[in-house]
Amino acid sequence: MSESDRPTAESRRGFVNWLLGTSAGAFAVSAFYPVVRFIVPPAEAESATSSVTLPFTPAEIGANEGKQFRFGNRPGLLVRTPTGELRAFSAECTHLSCTVQYRTDESRIWCACHNGFFDLNGRNVQGPPPRPLDTYDVNVRGDQIVVSLKA
Ligand code: FES
Repeated sequence: MSESDRPTAESRRGFVNWLLGTSAGAFAVSAFYPVVRFIVPPAEAESATSSVTLPFTPAEIGANEGKQFRFGNRPGLLVRTPTGELRAFSAECTHLSCTVQYRTDESRIWCACHNGFFDLNGRNVQGPPPRPLDTYDVNVRGDQIVVSLKA
């Protein structure tokens, strides 16, 4: 091996620097990519649902009772008021989107995350929720309850 064929210290240093640089880059990508994917939510198609038939009959929800249902990819809440009227709401709290539930002891809708309350018209009446719940139309057709977007 002649002197000119031998790798010089400078070319070895360049190779080591390249190797360390690409390894560090690959490590940084592999470490931060999952974090970025976790923080940035995937683009989710808006629910195209405009109407759903609930999986229970009107007889299965008593006065002063609430039942959860799915409205497309969103949670919904059907409430039968103490006077017997059926009302449907989005069950996504308007504060930070926790799922709300019906409190029979209060006859109000409650968000457990930060103790927010809504009345039976969906109005935010206590706690941090900044606006009322979205409301849906409710139609009873025989034994079926059909919930749909407001016309
Ligand atoms: S998310 Fe419902 S009160 Fe905060």
